[in-house]
Amino acid sequence: MTVNTYPGKLIVLEGLDGSGQTTQAQLLVKWFQDKRGQLAYYTKEPSDGPVGAILKLVLSHRLTSPTDKREHRPLDPATMALAFAADRADHLHHEIVPKLRDGVHVISDRYYLSSLAYQSIDLEYKWIREINQHALGPDLTFFFDVPPPICVKRMQSQRWHVELYEDLHMLEKVRRNYQECIRQLQLAGEKIEAVDGSQPVAEVHSIVVNRTKQLLRAFAAANDGTRSRVSEEQLALIMGTEPLTESEIASHQEG
Ligand code: TYD
Repeated sequence: MTVNTYPGKLIVLEGLDGSGQTTQAQLLVKWFQDKRGQLAYYTKEPSDGPVGAILKLVLSHRLTSPTDKREHRPLDPATMALAFAADRADHLHHEIVPKLRDGVHVISDRYYLSSLAYQSIDLEYKWIREINQHALGPDLTFFFDVPPPICVKRMQSQRWHVELYEDLHMLEKVRRNYQECIRQLQLAGEKIEAVDGSQPVAEVHSIVVNRTKQLLRAFAAANDGTRSRVSEEQLALIMGTEPLTESEIASHQEG
């Protein structure tokens, strides 16, 4: 994984389906934008690019045979892993890196930790790392840990369809994979924070904001003359700003 030397920071939010990482990613972007007047950009994987579009069809069981439209055409696990890695390369090239270069903080809803946790259901961890080795390393990753029965309950109340990896047994496995992959990546020096995602949304948001502030403070303190430095002016704005209030969160969720 390569180190981010662009002025924008790459922050990744991860978790099981139903763990709330999408809500938290959107709230973090809103916090940056509303409160800081800072530039932040929400994005997600699978991306909106061409490979991401195919992945979304596969995940929602809508990829069918050209001759028999009723026949579902799943992809085998290795092809899925390669497609997620290819989508990531495209996502980085067309969306993430141009934003980071412009000094925009990118908040990604899923990234390569998802590949390591989900694709290692069927495949070797080492190979999945290899096919993702050229991906830019995130500056910080949050993992929202939520017990799988709670995830399933949340999904049932929010969705009309069930995607590929969303049954309870599968989620139990993916959670164990996440825990093991996080341990390995932390040993390799990656900054990954596990957060209890079963707490109320506002509490989780406040943990995310406080940890993000620490990250930016560390970059400002680095003072190493590289482009990764956060300016004093930016830092003062960030440090003085509280997380979104419960009513701001509620109005975001209604809108
Ligand atoms: P989606 O419904 O788009 O996201 P979410 O459930 O987070 O709202 O589904 C994405 C699914 O794809 C999710 O089950 C995780 C899975 N996935 C992988 O298996 N590998 C990956 O590399 C990524 C990015 C996602």
